[in-house]
Amino acid sequence: MQKRKTNSLWSHNMLTGKKILIGITGGIAAYKIPTLVRLLKKAGAEVQILFSPMAHEFITPLTLSTLSGNPVLTDFHNPETGEWNSHVELGMWADIFLVAPVTASTMGKMVNGIADNLLVTTYLSAKCPVLLAPAMDMDMYKHPSTKANVDKLKEFGHVIIEPKEGELASGLCGEGRMEEPEEIFKIILDQLKKKAELKNKTALITAGPTYEAIDPVRFIGNHSSGLMGYSIAEELASRGAKVILISGPTHLNIEHSNIKLIRVESADEMYDVAVENFSASDVAIMSAAVADYKPVKAAPKKIKKTTKTPEIKLITTPDILAELGKQKTKDQLLIGFALETDNELENAGKKLKNKNLDFIVLNSLKDKGAGFRHATNKVTIIDKDQKIEKFELKSKKEVAVDIVDKLVGLLAS
Ligand code: CTP
Repeated sequence: MQKRKTNSLWSHNMLTGKKILIGITGGIAAYKIPTLVRLLKKAGAEVQILFSPMAHEFITPLTLSTLSGNPVLTDFHNPETGEWNSHVELGMWADIFLVAPVTASTMGKMVNGIADNLLVTTYLSAKCPVLLAPAMDMDMYKHPSTKANVDKLKEFGHVIIEPKEGELASGLCGEGRMEEPEEIFKIILDQLKKKAELKNKTALITAGPTYEAIDPVRFIGNHSSGLMGYSIAEELASRGAKVILISGPTHLNIEHSNIKLIRVESADEMYDVAVENFSASDVAIMSAAVADYKPVKAAPKKIKKTTKTPEIKLITTPDILAELGKQKTKDQLLIGFALETDNELENAGKKLKNKNLDFIVLNSLKDKGAGFRHATNKVTIIDKDQKIEKFELKSKKEVAVDIVDKLVGLLAS
């Protein structure tokens, strides 16, 4: 049998200055958290524990306040001192927010924004990566309600530390056992590493549609929601990159200290802002669905209805991606998208070459749940060595993680 080398897990001070917020909810797996807290403290992290009201039934606050060196917080205010425990400050303080064990009930509250305790309220305020380690009986974990909530939490961009198969507190055997504290510790280390992966890098993203004016009230546009590009921007920013997000008209908004959002309307405006910012960027990802044509001239006044069939003369818009491909230096990475309906791989391969890209993200309108107007996407990544990677249908947030992982791999090589 292989011996576990506990010493290789951590070294002193490797987490100095890191702030780890741990929420504990009412599950028997709470007994594993003291071991995790010890590992984190030994590695130099600051640890703050939050209890859901039910957590008290499974573990004592005294154990965890002793190990963490901080009082355990459960209530919005401390009845003894009268002090207010600010969920907003806690949410901003943390570098990582882990909820372990997280029960089916708390996941349901998180998904639906039911902020009836300090833990869920803090979750809603958290700006940092959120890690969730579910633990429950296997039938509860398999229930469609739990599955739907887990999927939704993944869609929100949270890391789900999947429970393992094994003997459960109920005496049954199956999926539902919370991951071991040593493994959770490693996952926290990986997340913290990820957070700094793109520090000192600047990324330029285009997202959403463009609107090409026909007259003051009408335009040529498309169904792009911008969600794919916004998700990529968020993922890059969460890994420490400085992001310039150039967005066509969408209902989306984004607030992140690393993201500068520049809103534009037309392909010409998007082109100007992209070209202006490209030379200072290390990577550029063009996910916008830029209109290929625009009216030669937008009418200055609303075009009135007449008996004659109107004709609108169109000309091509500038190809932003192709222009950046021409300007690209050997130190920059350029990534494009291709939305195809047929001969997908061949067409995407041509775009990759013609526009001088490092890789291209192909989505096909033939795939159900891919492309415009879906929260999901199914992509294939083709790189300039013609390596083809096909991904499953997933939330656009998860696709963004795959794209950024690929990019980080290229930057490292
Ligand atoms: N693109 C761009 N500027 C344009 C048109 C497209 O930057 N004027 C970028 C898109 O953001 C995307 C890629 O080019 O990253 C591919 O867009 P797509 O519309 O699929 O390809 P086109 O080159 O326009 O070719 P076609 O419409 O013929 O498929």
